[in-house]
Amino acid sequence: MSNQNPKRRSTAWFGHQDRDGFVHRSWTAKAGHPQDEFDGRPVIGICNTWSELTPCNSHFRELAEFVKRGVLEAGGFPLEFPVMSLGETQLRPTAMLFRNLASMDVEESIRGNPIDGVVLLMGCDKTTPSLMMGAASCGLPTIGVSGGPMLNGKFRGKDIGSGTGVWQMSEMVRAGTMTQAEFTEAEACMNRSAGTCMTMGTASTMASMVEALGMSLPGNAAIPAPDTRRNRIAQLSGRRIVEMVKENLTMDRILTREAFENAIRVNAAIGGSTNAVVHLLAIAGRIGVDLKLEDFDRIGSHLPCLVNLQPSGEFLMEDFFYAGGVPAVMREIQHLLHGDALTVNGRTIAENIADAPCYNRDVIMPLEQPFKDKAGIAILKGNLAPNGAVIKPSAASPHLLKHRGRAVVFENIEHFRERVDDPALDVDENCVMVLKNCGPRGYPGMAEVGNMPLPRKVLQKGITDMVRISDARMSGTAYGTVVLHTSPEAAAGGPLALVRDGDMIELDVETRRLNLEVSDEELQRRKAEWVPPPKPERGYARLYCDHVLGADLGADLDFLVGSSGAPVPRESH
Ligand code: FES
Ligand code: MG
Repeated sequence: MSNQNPKRRSTAWFGHQDRDGFVHRSWTAKAGHPQDEFDGRPVIGICNTWSELTPCNSHFRELAEFVKRGVLEAGGFPLEFPVMSLGETQLRPTAMLFRNLASMDVEESIRGNPIDGVVLLMGCDKTTPSLMMGAASCGLPTIGVSGGPMLNGKFRGKDIGSGTGVWQMSEMVRAGTMTQAEFTEAEACMNRSAGTCMTMGTASTMASMVEALGMSLPGNAAIPAPDTRRNRIAQLSGRRIVEMVKENLTMDRILTREAFENAIRVNAAIGGSTNAVVHLLAIAGRIGVDLKLEDFDRIGSHLPCLVNLQPSGEFLMEDFFYAGGVPAVMREIQHLLHGDALTVNGRTIAENIADAPCYNRDVIMPLEQPFKDKAGIAILKGNLAPNGAVIKPSAASPHLLKHRGRAVVFENIEHFRERVDDPALDVDENCVMVLKNCGPRGYPGMAEVGNMPLPRKVLQKGITDMVRISDARMSGTAYGTVVLHTSPEAAAGGPLALVRDGDMIELDVETRRLNLEVSDEELQRRKAEWVPPPKPERGYARLYCDHVLGADLGADLDFLVGSSGAPVPRESH
């Protein structure tokens, strides 16, 4: 057994000529591996989120084969393993409830097995943060490979964006400007290939974050899923992870404070999803980087958005890829980035983006003539959100960024659905819609319901936006003047729980204020009457509600914050 490296984890399984070595090798080898494959070469775990219940990741078995090719070419030993896969469009009550559970699956699968390095196959929204979180808690050499966006949606000669188009067209049906038959026809036109949502929604945002963090090869985020260059980058990543193991290029050397600051800036420049806030906070928590909610405002909010992609703009991910993708954006803001941040290819961010070309200035605009000014995520504070709330100004209506209005309150999502189209509901476009009990504990899982559809009677006047406030998230494909992640959440007794119909609320994004114009004495009186909602009785939902942190802290489970590294556990027999 020539190359046995006592420091390599897999040696503890495969490198000993004893009873236990027999067991580990013999059972692994029944897949057809000759004895000499156990010679100490790096064992690479390929963490796969393929599932037919996660349609966005449906091409991952094929993608994994390309990773394997690369691992074998570089002299590694690839072993693919499945983990819990979270399909954004299917999972109820929300895929976000299970992000932390899936991250535990990833963490324990890595630590408990003979793995020296990891390739993460990530695509649909929550599959990216859950794999990044779990892997970060182990900290082994790790490389991310994204599944890539779908081809552009095509409907009646026009491009339509996944998610964004659904929100737009469903409002048109409700307003009476689109027929039900047209709406049904669009179903087959929107999602027509393998891959993730092709707007700059959460999946594309998080793939861009992985790239900005330095956790993938350059260019990884934007290559469309069906483009064969996606397979090539998978193969190249397979080759590279073997080298990373030999170099002991561990995750903590890449996921530094500087890397997260780069990611926050890139998120602003791409007009990325508000979901990046909770996910980056959670990933940082696992690797031990002290990232705070306020950092998103301080580091990113003054940055312009350069990328004209839906939901903030016009184009889609396929266009973004042809225009140059994330490297072109990073090059445009390179003087604002920590250029010496290390990436998985062993080079720095500055080296990776030095010659990154931009081929289409309609899609990726220059910093001097940005698509939108001051477009990064803003963090609001005030007596309605003592721990903060999130707004994405680039997706909001400029005339509503400073607004004072009368609250129309919905106690939970059922109450909202029951009431929103009631002709008797006293609401107009100047009101502020308030939705409670949709945060991490409240839903549970912090559902993407913050972009509440407007009341029909407001829509019928031709109005398309109103100020909406909740403790929920919103889909990265959604838009509007929507205040999200209000913390503490209503179900935890936050002030949001105390808002009543008719209270006046003041939003001022410029000064970052979110105020409920009700006296402290009155709020205390209401708090005394407040009854916390019941918790789930059993199972994971109970564990989650007992331990979940607020959205302002990343909504991780309190006992998962931090890392346990990947020491070899004791022998199983
Ligand atoms: Fe999977 Fe949008 S639903 S990426
Ligand atoms: Mg989503």
